[in-house]
Amino acid sequence: MRQAADRFGTPLYAYSAPVLDAAIVRVRAAFSDARIWYAMKANPNLTLLRRMHSAGVGFECVSLGELGRAVKVGAGGQEILVNGLAKTDDEYRLGGELGATFIVDRPEEVGLLPPASRVLVRVNPGLSVSTHDHLATGAADSKFGVRPDQLPETVSALRSGGHILRGLHLHIGSAIRDTGDFGAAFGRVAALSALTGELEVLDVGGGWGLDADLHGIAAEAKKAAASFGAALWAEPGRYLVAHSGVLLTRVMGHKATGREFTLTDAGMTELLRPMLYGAVHPVRALWNSRAGEDETSLSDLAGPACESGDLLGRDVTLPSGAVRGDLLALLDAGAYGAAMSSSYLTRPRPAEVLWDGSDWVVMRRQETVQDIWAAEE
Ligand SMILES: Cc1ncc(COP(=O)(O)O)c(C=O)c1O
Repeated sequence: MRQAADRFGTPLYAYSAPVLDAAIVRVRAAFSDARIWYAMKANPNLTLLRRMHSAGVGFECVSLGELGRAVKVGAGGQEILVNGLAKTDDEYRLGGELGATFIVDRPEEVGLLPPASRVLVRVNPGLSVSTHDHLATGAADSKFGVRPDQLPETVSALRSGGHILRGLHLHIGSAIRDTGDFGAAFGRVAALSALTGELEVLDVGGGWGLDADLHGIAAEAKKAAASFGAALWAEPGRYLVAHSGVLLTRVMGHKATGREFTLTDAGMTELLRPMLYGAVHPVRALWNSRAGEDETSLSDLAGPACESGDLLGRDVTLPSGAVRGDLLALLDAGAYGAAMSSSYLTRPRPAEVLWDGSDWVVMRRQETVQDIWAAEE
C-alpha cells in the first residue's frame, strides 16, 4: 500500500481484487444457489462492476446513471433490478426497454410502470433494527416500501394492470449489528404468503455487517423463501466491497485545542461515513516504528475541511511521534467511501487503484480542478 501511495499520491482509494473475489465466494457459500445482485450504490466503479458481472452477479440500480453503468459493463435486462422510491420517467422507460425487473415501492407506482412490467413489491416490515437511524430502512416510519396492509391492493392492481408480479422484496437497513433482526424481518414478510400465495422470488436485500453470520442469515432467508415456494435473491452492497478497499491518507501535522488532533490530507470529502452516520473505520499506521517510539497516543483524525464535523475518527490510537507525510490506512472503506466522495471545497476526488494480484491498476484517475469546473464554463 505504501508503494501505491508513493506512486499515485494521497488521498487514495486502494482496493484488492483477491479480497473482493473472496467476499463473493463467501456469499455464494452461504447463500448456495440464491441469485446475488450487487447494490451498486456501495461502489459503482466500472472495473468492480465488470469483475462482478463476469462472476455472474447482477445489479440493483437506483438511478439512471446506475442503470447506464450496468448497461456499460454488458448487463442485460435479466441482470438488472430498477429500484428507488421516486423513479423518473426516464428510469421507467429505460428499465422497460431493457426488460429489467422493477422494485415497486408504493401502490401509486403501479400506474407509472411500462406495460407488462416484471415486478417485485418492496415490503416495509415495520421493524426497528440495530443500526444508525439514517441506515434503518424497514422501520414503520421510514420512507421505504409498501405497508403490509397496502399489499393486497398493490398486488391486485399489478395483476389487473397486466404486469408480472414476480415476488416480494425487503431491505431493512445497512450495517445491521444484530443478526437476529434479519430473522425477525424475514419472518414478518413470510407471514404475507397467506395474502400473496406462491411467488417466483423472494429478495431479502442486503445490510449484512462485515462480521455477520452469513450462514445464519441465509438459513432464515431460505426458510422465508420456502414459505412462498420462491427462489431466493439477495442484494448485498457493503459486504461485497467494504473489506476490499482502504483509504490512504497522509499525516499533515498535529494540533491541540481542547482535544488532540492528528491532521490528515483526507477528510469528509473523501470519506463521509464517519460524519454522516458515525461510522467507525479501523485505522492502521503504515510507518515503520521509529526507534524509541513504541509509545502510542490518542487523537482525533481531523480532515482539512472547514467543518467541525470533519473528523475521520475519534480517540484513534496511533504510534506516538508521527511526522508530516506518514501514511495511514482507513480500513473497510471500499463501500460508500469513494461512492460518496464529493468535490466540495473544489477538492478533486481521489484516484482509485486496484491490486489485481500482480500490480496496481488505475480504476479511476484522480479528478482535476478543471474536471470540477468544466460544466460551469
Ligand atoms: C434496496 C437496497 N438493497 C441493498 C442495499 C445494500 O445494503 P448494504 O450495502 O448495507 O448491503 C441497499 C443499501 O442502501 C438498498 O437500499
